[in-house]
Amino acid sequence: MHLRCSIPACGTTLDLHDRALSCPKCGELLEVVPNPGTHDPQDLKRLWLTRRTSYNPRDISGVWRFREFLPDCYGPDAVVTLAEGNTPLLRGQKTAAFAGLKDLRFKHLGFNPTGSFKDLGMTAGMTEAKFMGAKAVACASTGNTAASLAAYAARAGVIGRVYLPAGQASANKLAQALDYGAEMVQIEGSFDDALNSLLDANDPDLYFLNSINPFRIEGQKTAMFEMLEQLGDWRVPDYVIVPGGNLGNSSAFGKAFIEMKNYGLIDKTPRIIVVQASGANPLYQMWQSGAPDLTAVAKPETLATAIRIGNPRSWKKSLQGIHFTNGFVLDVTDEEIAQAKDQIGRDGIGCEPASATTLAGLRKLNLDNDATVVAILTGHVLKDTDYIIKMHNKQANVH
Ligand code: F0G
Repeated sequence: MHLRCSIPACGTTLDLHDRALSCPKCGELLEVVPNPGTHDPQDLKRLWLTRRTSYNPRDISGVWRFREFLPDCYGPDAVVTLAEGNTPLLRGQKTAAFAGLKDLRFKHLGFNPTGSFKDLGMTAGMTEAKFMGAKAVACASTGNTAASLAAYAARAGVIGRVYLPAGQASANKLAQALDYGAEMVQIEGSFDDALNSLLDANDPDLYFLNSINPFRIEGQKTAMFEMLEQLGDWRVPDYVIVPGGNLGNSSAFGKAFIEMKNYGLIDKTPRIIVVQASGANPLYQMWQSGAPDLTAVAKPETLATAIRIGNPRSWKKSLQGIHFTNGFVLDVTDEEIAQAKDQIGRDGIGCEPASATTLAGLRKLNLDNDATVVAILTGHVLKDTDYIIKMHNKQANVH
């Protein structure tokens, strides 16, 4: 198992535990090349399911349960875990009607220990950080990565430091990071500025845990393994729709489908649809214009603060998955997000604003009524309570 440049034409390889965050030859992001061996795909599927009945900490984790496709050099006691994963796949009813679909399900990653999908990547990233002897870990964040890093750093017994855009992350997420004992650095400007200042500082004593860390992507990718398992007999839906911010999560999902298909776990893939908020939509703009490169949005604006990102680092990786699965990109307005979020609540499911881009996107797309769709809900309803209260005050004033 090793690291490789994510650009196939370059393909430079590095040792798995090299701490480089980009390719020394071309500067692009790195990825982990897993080594799942030569198991019969059906045997692997059975093994993963059987692990759900085990009390081994690595089997209890919905990430490490799929360790044949992960860096797996750590041993049972070295894994930093909070029993992440094993999140539900919930059928939408009113939401399906709202989107004009018969079969709509939500893979709710907000059921993770700190309330977002970030925990799936953080268990993998923090386990590697600890393995490497890191004493302090850091990330820039719109809030959820910060909360997750803080919790897993506490578990690992290392210092967690989070860089946040001042005044732009939800109070609930800040509160989580404080509760788990992280050091907080507030940066004037956007998430992109916070990430730049962390990268520019280039502190060799800080292990870096944003999603450009390839180990994070490995953990996040398992959400798609679990989703197919839950659909029954690894039935592949027509579409998987996911919010796009820094584009790590859609990259992880694309990588999952590429690997599953190449290994023979599935014989076709769903089409990945990435949805951005219209005020923070650089990938959508690029997709629409057919431009060969991404142009950053200088001043990203959306009430879905989790995805208020103008210069997504993982856009090339994300596009690889979109192209492989014949997927596409769209955007939705803050009003469409608010309306969709309200509907998700009416199904008794709930989510944070960024997650509702998925249902908003589905309504806008008006797909064939028979299409089978899984929408990824990335964060818990309690992640941004100010947003909800403000929305409802507004409605109360209007009525
Ligand atoms: N949904 C939620 C709830 C998020 O917190 C994020 C990203 C995304 C979607 C987008 O995922 O960046 O992988 O495309 N939140 C990061 C953070 C940026 O710092 O918590 P992405």
